[in-house]
Amino acid sequence: MDLDEAMRTTFSAREFTADPLPDAALADILDRARFAPSGGNRQGWKVIVVRDNATREALARLTEPAAKRYIAQQKNGENPWNTIDPPRVDAATIERTEPLMRLIEPVLKAPVVLVICVDLKVVASTDQHLDRVGVISGASIYPFAWNILLAARARGFAGTITTLAVAQEPKLKQLLGLPSHVAVAAVMPLGRPVKQLTKLKRKPVSEFAMRERWGGPPLA
Ligand SMILES: Cc1cc2nc3c(=O)[nH]c(=O)nc-3n(C[C@H](O)[C@H](O)[C@H](O)COP(=O)(O)O)c2cc1C
Repeated sequence: MDLDEAMRTTFSAREFTADPLPDAALADILDRARFAPSGGNRQGWKVIVVRDNATREALARLTEPAAKRYIAQQKNGENPWNTIDPPRVDAATIERTEPLMRLIEPVLKAPVVLVICVDLKVVASTDQHLDRVGVISGASIYPFAWNILLAARARGFAGTITTLAVAQEPKLKQLLGLPSHVAVAAVMPLGRPVKQLTKLKRKPVSEFAMRERWGGPPLA
């Protein structure tokens, strides 16, 4: 498949056909994804391949609290889970919010779910002393996660990078037996998508690229 085409059409699939995604096909996808870059080429990713139904049900349950807050904030006109503006919805409102099933069901229904972890013992986190949420550690893992989706796309499969369950990371760690120095970067349902999107909604370059400094003229 043409690279430009793959980049333009690799969407977030949340609905899957009954087709299996066998271990051999998954290993082939991961065999491409492993060429992703990482800080110092440390390759701190680890992948847990989940097919067990009880584990998926636990993953779905762990997704729910963060999904409720996400929807409650969204309904309130906020950017959910951002670290700059404190949430303006209270705990009671979050508690009675119905989480969208499309945020929860994919881990139950996809033929396979990958839990993509990062070994914090090997990842360089150069923003660790800054007074803001860390972003650099993730940068050593998400190119790998994205490569999984690109390799899946080339083979007719698809999935979604999801992160809501990570809000419950201590319980996730218990569920999966993760050591304390390992963090969860994403939970990724993968399978054969029911439909293939071809026109993804994205802002044009002129809206996010500016010349020389913040607020500079847009790159046309
Ligand atoms: C870091 C990250 C976290 C995300 N978390 C979730 C999530 O928890 N649940 C979910 O359903 N989608 C999640 N997504 C998928 C986004 O919603 C999706 O990429 C975006 O809406 C664009 O969708 P599209 O590619 O189908 O156009 C996440 C994506 C990224 C990159």
